[in-house]
Amino acid sequence: MPNFEKLKTNAQKLVTPGKGILAADESLGTIGKRFDQIAVENNHDNRIAYRGLLFNCPSLENFISGVITFDETFRDEVDGKRLVQPLLDRDIQVWIKVDIGVKAINDLGETVTQGLDNLDVRMAEYAKMGATFAKWRGVLKIDIPKALPSEFAIEQNAQALARYAKICQDHGVVPIVEPEVLMDGDHTIEQAKKVTSRVITITYKALSDHGVYLPGTLLKPNMVRSGVDAGTEFDAQAIARFTVECLQESLPVAVPGVVFLSGGMSEAQATQALDAMNRLVAKKPWALSFSYGRALQASCLKAYLGKVKNVEIASKVLLDRAHLNSLATLGKYEASHENNPDALADLFQKNYSY
Ligand code: 13P
Repeated sequence: MPNFEKLKTNAQKLVTPGKGILAADESLGTIGKRFDQIAVENNHDNRIAYRGLLFNCPSLENFISGVITFDETFRDEVDGKRLVQPLLDRDIQVWIKVDIGVKAINDLGETVTQGLDNLDVRMAEYAKMGATFAKWRGVLKIDIPKALPSEFAIEQNAQALARYAKICQDHGVVPIVEPEVLMDGDHTIEQAKKVTSRVITITYKALSDHGVYLPGTLLKPNMVRSGVDAGTEFDAQAIARFTVECLQESLPVAVPGVVFLSGGMSEAQATQALDAMNRLVAKKPWALSFSYGRALQASCLKAYLGKVKNVEIASKVLLDRAHLNSLATLGKYEASHENNPDALADLFQKNYSY
């Protein structure tokens, strides 16, 4: 029987005001694409060096409550010490990504996430190794002329997320529930809201049907915005309004927090949109925070370039970005705080995988 009080307390702790999550759980393929951008070879030593930079970043605990890792990183050791130990030493929760990627379920390009078959066994091991949080990402794509996402894909992904969430809680692990609606496409913000609202509604209905304890979960959704090919200007206020309305329609108040993914927005845009949401005067019974991958790491990687001599400056870049996002969770970020032109770089990649 899970300890419900503990699940609830842990989930709440993660979304303490002023703190958010660093997603550093890129699969072997995805981290390779990141390293390509800075001409660094994708080998184990280089992955350890880069993640070591992130995890040893001084003062990170002031703005970051958790870090999501990939299986390899979760197990990595340097000189007999776990690579994630500097995080644990500072009471930063270490998460484990437990899905193993997506697989096509029809010829329309829709997918469902894999990894349920032996999840119970893997979760028992992760829990024994100290994991208190896990992540599973479902991916849905909007294509209005083709009526996508289909109800079938929404339902299949919701069922997988719900089964995963139940297995997590059975092992005392808080599930982060991530049904991502991609920003690929030319859809309007209104269409994105309708789809995202439907996806969250069906996902939380499935969680409820599977007997998942909702106060012991966190939602990691996309923000509601128009498609990247819609030709509309970025508008943080519109994103904030539509996203909060979408959550009001679809997310139970029992869920303690929402930790958004950045989805391909630039670092500055992801921070601005989060800040606008936290400034918005509206009914918001959940903490609204961040769980960014690209939008926390992009400038840091550029500053690092795979060189030991750049570790200090790259750590500072990461800390500054985390600080700005921390301010955004409090609705206290100002555009004048942006002093790194790299933060404006577009981070969108078509059909993104993690
Ligand atoms: P991005 O913030 O780069 O979208 O990634 C977050 C994440 O964890 C996706 O699963």
